[in-house]
Amino acid sequence: MALVARDVSYTYAGGRSFGVEALRSVDLSLKREDLVVVTGTTGSGKSTLLRLLAGLLAPSQGTVAVDGMDPSAREARGSVAIVFQDPETQFFAETLHADVMFGPRNLGLDYASEEADRALRTVGLDPDIYGGRSPFTLSGGEARRGAIAGALAMAAPYLLLDEPTSGLDADGRRSIREALAAERRRSGVLVVTHDPMEFLDEATAVVALDSGAVAFSGTPQELYADPAPYTRAGLELPPVVRTQLLVRDAGMRLEHVVCDPARAAESLLTARGASS
Ligand SMILES: Nc1ncnc2c1ncn2[C@@H]1O[C@H](COP(=O)(O)OP(=O)(O)OP(=O)(O)O)[C@@H](O)[C@H]1O
Ligand SMILES: [Mg+2]
Repeated sequence: MALVARDVSYTYAGGRSFGVEALRSVDLSLKREDLVVVTGTTGSGKSTLLRLLAGLLAPSQGTVAVDGMDPSAREARGSVAIVFQDPETQFFAETLHADVMFGPRNLGLDYASEEADRALRTVGLDPDIYGGRSPFTLSGGEARRGAIAGALAMAAPYLLLDEPTSGLDADGRRSIREALAAERRRSGVLVVTHDPMEFLDEATAVVALDSGAVAFSGTPQELYADPAPYTRAGLELPPVVRTQLLVRDAGMRLEHVVCDPARAAESLLTARGASS
């Protein structure tokens, strides 16, 4: 059981004689309880990949399958939930509560209203305060949280999020990280981000795109063991990771490389203790 892209390419036709090849021979797999981080420079194909995985676009070459089904097929309805990069484009209902409730109600789930309240609370929006608001009057950060609540409420086995923490304050980022950590107990979660530091410590895999092709795919520890393909794709590792890699390259043995500053300090102090 997985959401799988195999040898997927996608070309936007456009009105010109040549199309834009946005993805080239991409392989990716997302299983329940996975947290896959997809990163890459602007225009590298991240959002296109998400639309293909959700069945909103059909590959020009290769296949996408969700638990063996075509993600755009009727029987795959409700299998993949997606949060777009511009969350405000996702809203349509008169109130935020009605918007968040639409997904579960449409899928015929019982308790759609309670599910919507629960999802709003999970992302840090009090349903009594925000539920009755027009989603179009929300601030950017509130809208992002609201859109994530809409996806969570669907309880889909695969959840795809395009830059879920961009534009959020520290509190907002933390509540989204916590919500996604909880979500992994029942779903596979794929996060597109320009700031992988937020997710690398929890990630099961990292996929870096470069001009539509996979430049790196592996676990975070594999990434830290040989970051060259990642940096060649125009990407930078978080400063706290770079510090640890410099210390490691200077000959000190580190048990593991981490993004969390407190755990990184612990790891460096342990290494220093062992070497003195
Ligand atoms: N509707 C479209 N028609 C034509 N070309 C498109 C279309 N949407 C995207 N593209 C092109 O496809 C490529 C990949 O776009 P995509 O939106 O997937 O990038 P991205 O990695 O999500 O970028 P960002 O980090 O800026 O969100 C870009 O060159 C983009 O200009
Ligand atoms: Mg994008």
